[in-house]
Amino acid sequence: MRVCEEAPGSRFNPDCADGSVSDHDASWWKKAVIYQIYPRSFQDSNEDGIGDIPGICSRVDYLVKLGIDAVWLAPICPSPMDDFGYDIADFTGVDPVFGTMEDFDRLLSLLHERGIRLILDFVPNHTSDRHAWFRESRRSKNDLRRDWYVWRSPAKDGGPPNNWLSRFGGSAWEYDEGSGEYYYHAFLKSQPDLNWRNPEVRKAMHDVLRFWMRRGVDGFRLDAAAVTVEDDLLRDDPPLDGDLSEVPPPEHQQRIYSDNRPETLEFLDELRQVVAEFPGRVLLGEVDTSPENACRFYGETKPRIDLPLNYRLLDVEWTAAEVEAELDQYYNLLPAHAWPNWALGSHDKRRIAERRSEAGARLAALLLFTLRGTAIFYQGDELGILQVPIPPERVSDPFEKLVPGFQLGRDGERAPMRWDAARNAGFSRVEPWLPIGPNSERQNVEALKRNPHSILWLYIELIRLRRQEPALLMGEYEPLRRDGEVVKFKRVRNDTCIAVLANFGSDFKEVKLPPHARMLVTTYLDRNLPSGTSLQLRPYEGVVLSISEGAYV
Ligand code: NOJ
Ligand code: CA
Repeated sequence: MRVCEEAPGSRFNPDCADGSVSDHDASWWKKAVIYQIYPRSFQDSNEDGIGDIPGICSRVDYLVKLGIDAVWLAPICPSPMDDFGYDIADFTGVDPVFGTMEDFDRLLSLLHERGIRLILDFVPNHTSDRHAWFRESRRSKNDLRRDWYVWRSPAKDGGPPNNWLSRFGGSAWEYDEGSGEYYYHAFLKSQPDLNWRNPEVRKAMHDVLRFWMRRGVDGFRLDAAAVTVEDDLLRDDPPLDGDLSEVPPPEHQQRIYSDNRPETLEFLDELRQVVAEFPGRVLLGEVDTSPENACRFYGETKPRIDLPLNYRLLDVEWTAAEVEAELDQYYNLLPAHAWPNWALGSHDKRRIAERRSEAGARLAALLLFTLRGTAIFYQGDELGILQVPIPPERVSDPFEKLVPGFQLGRDGERAPMRWDAARNAGFSRVEPWLPIGPNSERQNVEALKRNPHSILWLYIELIRLRRQEPALLMGEYEPLRRDGEVVKFKRVRNDTCIAVLANFGSDFKEVKLPPHARMLVTTYLDRNLPSGTSLQLRPYEGVVLSISEGAYV
């Protein structure tokens, strides 16, 4: 086993990519490990308690050492920050809180020099109400920009045009006194929806993509990609029946008419064509990857979104039977041209380590980097960070404020990165915008680097192994029959075969080994294979083995 051969404290991942991004391997993203950075919470450089782009620049060495191939950066454009950057007031600028366009260009070239690509968040569905387009649009019913947003007359009783609900609570329609009409907002009332049926809007948004691609970005993550168009007839969404006391009010209807409309797909196809004007760019998408929908977003016969984000490993019930079924179902539903992806966390999802405990988070990492498909994880997952408790007076997320009582707040996963044992975990010299949370003096990058068995080292080792093993990067996925609580599969390429065994059980489990099996990694980073023909898996332990092709496990 090749775990941590160097003494802790030495340069900690010598094998990682450290070349420039010069090859135009159009499908680089298939082999990629993508790391999501939430810029407000990565590194503060100017002592305002909020992370920024110069802060990210100062941590590029860390990204290189992790061994990742690409960064997906959550929005950095000018924004009133009602939804922390997802309410954009100018699609082609940089918010001063994050820095300047020069800072952005510097980050991009620093990353590219080190062989790391950059994917930006693109928010097509809505703008901020302080975007110049909306200010103009709300001036009057006759304004040339009026039709850039979704305006409708009041219902006969003067109320909203229909029953659609905002995802962040209340009606999705906001009355505008000045012009006597309502505008539609799928999210906050300060996030009016753009009218994607208007070709001028589409053209303007296409030009936004071109602007960033000309600057050199390598792709986009399409925010809320399935929400962009609504039913033109404004038909009411059907209300749900039964006891809804446990269901958050925004989910009290089936979003038949306000979500996932077929027209969305045409507009996504147009975006795809714009992105294809520039070689080697990738499209990720925040969409519903349920069995009914995943195919539509991948494109039934030709690519639409390259990587519709798949959070099944995070959301699945954590038992061997459920995970085995989930893997099978996902791989089988993908159209022939599609490339799978697996994502372990995001700024919108409760942390993996909180849901699974550290041993489970290690097992999830093992699956993430050994399953066939692009691997995506969120800053801090590699440290095993738990959900950070947020005292009521520090709640920032509008979702929590507007729909209280359902634990919908996302501040807990947006708490700052932990770099060292200094004050505020090295994130900032001043009080951060969100609390750092408990245990940061032990659970930080520097401390975990010193511990050769830490989850951080597991991430580094798995990423390194994946990079070195063509079978893990591109090999076929071959399921094996589950053995009780042990999920098993193989990855096979040419004459190389790798087996993965993952024990979801709380008991020890003896598994048979084929002859000449070699241990590549265990989630505990602490042992080689015993001699003999079997291996005693410990509770929640996962292992990666090199075996001979055709050998049974
Ligand atoms: C999805 C983003 O990931 C989330 O953070 C945001 O609140 C909504 N889109 C609305 O923009
Ligand atoms: Ca700052």
